[in-house]
Amino acid sequence: MTTLSTLKKFKREGTKFTCLTCYDSMFARMMDKAQIDTILIGDSLGMVVQGHDSTLPVTVDDMAYHTANIARSNQHALILADLPFMSYVTLPEAIANSRKLMQAGAHVIKIEGGSELCDLVTTLAQAGTPTCVHLGLTPQSVNVFGGYKIQGRGDEAADKLLADAKAVVAAGAALLVLECVPAELAKAVTEAVTAPVIGIGAGADTDGQVLVMHDMLGMVHGRVPRFVHDFLTDERNSARSIEGAFALYQQSVREGSFPTEQHQFS
Ligand code: KIV
Repeated sequence: MTTLSTLKKFKREGTKFTCLTCYDSMFARMMDKAQIDTILIGDSLGMVVQGHDSTLPVTVDDMAYHTANIARSNQHALILADLPFMSYVTLPEAIANSRKLMQAGAHVIKIEGGSELCDLVTTLAQAGTPTCVHLGLTPQSVNVFGGYKIQGRGDEAADKLLADAKAVVAAGAALLVLECVPAELAKAVTEAVTAPVIGIGAGADTDGQVLVMHDMLGMVHGRVPRFVHDFLTDERNSARSIEGAFALYQQSVREGSFPTEQHQFS
């Protein structure tokens, strides 16, 4: 069973680890078989499961329902679950909503933002709830960014992101997710913090990698993001099976053959 201690050990040893999003029980069983290290019940379920055009409509009850589906089938992975849009604006609602997800089976609660989350991160850590802070392109802020755009470009934005990462880790964040930031910045953040860092569109130098399950199985609606690789039709997955795709992803991340330069931003 993967725990936060396992991921910290992986970071110390330089062992790259995997994360995939997952929303239902059967896929969780297949990920288990492939020994995927961590599973994220992402609020991306709003787009890939519910058919919305953003993550904003997802509710805490939706997240709790999908988290419980995964928890019933999972044996091996550390389970991360997203607190959805506007469900952690005040400390009392953040605490109540984290409790719902932890009681549904999450091991770690993921929240999006920067140093403004420090009080919440510390409060949850003291209450026995580890957090993963998602920085960079945080999809819940799509309307602030004016679209899904690369973040952390330019000295000022890079310095702010690095400072935010250090601040939330000092406040007690157990993990970070870095989404769509220049690879060089992701490397600097990963080296600067003790917490394991999971990247998506953040280059090869983060401690772990995450992909949306549907994307890595080639099920993409619209434009395929640069950081996605289709592991289902990859010729190394000779059976062209879903389990084979998960196993190939696990192997590729561990051995360092995914992601490559073609999947990263500068
Ligand atoms: O909700 C999600 O799937 C995520 C990943 C893209 C990291 O937050």
